[in-house]
Amino acid sequence: MCCIFAAAAIIQAVGLMAERSIFTGWDKRCTALWGNEPVFIGHNLHVSPLFSREGLAALIENYPRERYNIFHMGAKSGDGWFWRQGDISGMTGEEVIEAVSKGRLWLNLRNVNLVDPRYGKLLDDLLGELSGYMPGFLTRRRGSGILISSPNAQVYYHVDLPGQLLFQISGRKRVYFYPAHPPFITHEHLERTAVTGLGVDIPFAPWYDEYARIQDFEPGQMVHWPHFAPHRVENHDCLNVSMTVDFSTEPILRAQIVNYANGILRCGFGVNPRSRSISGLSFWAKALLQKTLRDTAWMKKKKAAHAQIEFRLDRAVPGGIVNLATPAAEGDRVMAHAEG
Ligand SMILES: [Fe+2]
Repeated sequence: MCCIFAAAAIIQAVGLMAERSIFTGWDKRCTALWGNEPVFIGHNLHVSPLFSREGLAALIENYPRERYNIFHMGAKSGDGWFWRQGDISGMTGEEVIEAVSKGRLWLNLRNVNLVDPRYGKLLDDLLGELSGYMPGFLTRRRGSGILISSPNAQVYYHVDLPGQLLFQISGRKRVYFYPAHPPFITHEHLERTAVTGLGVDIPFAPWYDEYARIQDFEPGQMVHWPHFAPHRVENHDCLNVSMTVDFSTEPILRAQIVNYANGILRCGFGVNPRSRSISGLSFWAKALLQKTLRDTAWMKKKKAAHAQIEFRLDRAVPGGIVNLATPAAEGDRVMAHAEG
């Protein structure tokens, strides 16, 4: 009888663990590939009330202005497109989602883990679960965001400096991951990205696709890709909702310091930095350099140039977009180089 109760307790505990798991289908192969190749696994966030349409509408309605960006993907100009930044003040959350579902818009609710503690707990839980699968996986910085984007919208070829996870919640898209080495990404690209805060102004050629891992991405899937692997995304003809997680481990933090310091040396002082070491005297000298110069007027100007608001959503006008009177100068807009 005692054995029966013990077995029942174990079954119940396993059931509870399974119930609380966010990821599904993790196996040794995921651990072996993690950080070296794109890893696709299952998750259950797409059935969570946190990501229902009503839940997202309520979240949007109270979202702090300084924590979101909404971009409109503009007309082609030269060899790329301009993204214009906008504002959603005065719209209900449902109206914003409706506008995104009909437009060429891309809404990024940044730092949702800080805005709403329910998403903060979710972030802690999912990273904790990953640490359970990979005991050496320890993050020093972490954040999450929610992306709501229009049918057929694209995120152009770019690179992210932190480590990244992407969870598909609703809608379908095609993701393209490219090798994390030249010519797909170079040290100069990473340094420029660190200095400007933008990752989309790196060159892309259509033949790069021959070297890409290309996969359709559906609700219930998560992907993690190698650090510094450039990538791009094409939405299928439907509204898309995704959650992003950015994280930094100790080596990732150190690589960020090196990129930033080398970018300052190259862009600010015309020096061609030779070392990319994340330890030793050269690393610590660069850590001091980037800490000293990080908040200077020159560095702030480099990042602030891309923050101008050029439109607002308005339910009362045809097309739902009102252009503001002071468009940003072309050189100050976010520009994505892409073909097509
Ligand atoms: Fe990205």
